[in-house]
Amino acid sequence: MTTPSATSAPRLEEITAANLEAALGIRVRPEQEFAVSSVMKSLAEAYVHPGVAWPRLIVDGERPVGFLMAFLDIDWKADGSLVRSGLWRLNIAADEQGRGYGRFAVESVAEQIRDRGGEEMYVTWHPGDHGPENFYLGLGFRDTGERSEGETVGVLTLDRVRA
Ligand SMILES: CC(C)(COP(=O)(O)OP(=O)(O)OC[C@H]1O[C@@H](n2cnc3c(N)ncnc32)[C@H](O)[C@@H]1OP(=O)(O)O)[C@@H](O)C(=O)NCCC(=O)NCCS
Repeated sequence: MTTPSATSAPRLEEITAANLEAALGIRVRPEQEFAVSSVMKSLAEAYVHPGVAWPRLIVDGERPVGFLMAFLDIDWKADGSLVRSGLWRLNIAADEQGRGYGRFAVESVAEQIRDRGGEEMYVTWHPGDHGPENFYLGLGFRDTGERSEGETVGVLTLDRVRA
């Protein structure tokens, strides 16, 4: 097992021809696969939703450690009466979990939304063992009480005053 060094500083990379294979190689644990789509499916969705999908590879040093995809200003309701932004997908590689990369991903998307003037970050999650519910609750998301296609809809209020 690789121990991250004290200088470990993850970053986000746009998906390009140079890192596509690395992105497609990100795999969560088998028992977690019910909770998130594959990177391949997410990139296909990004292709057909170019205006709102924000896919990024999470890299630490030379290691691809995860993948995230945000949604930015989507019409949450078909009639266009509700616009939301948030985290669409988050896949941390099985052997890279527990090292802070998930938190980094959430903070990165929060910053992106905040920079665009947003005040809330949404996410939906599958309830159940091995799902990410307690990860999101631990980071400050709250259950809105809404359900979307069987998933819990959570929201994080973004603090607009930065330390
Ligand atoms: C859920 C997931 C994104 C967490 O990523 P991670 O890199 O392991 O999380 P981090 O190391 O950044 O953990 C941040 C904090 O959350 C906690 N945490 C992580 N996963 C947790 C879980 N399943 N339950 C409770 N707490 C959890 C960590 O202990 C840590 O807490 P601390 O800061 O108090 O020590 C990762 O396990 C994953 O990719 N799961 C499979 C796919 C998935 O469910 N994606 C979400 C789809 S909506």
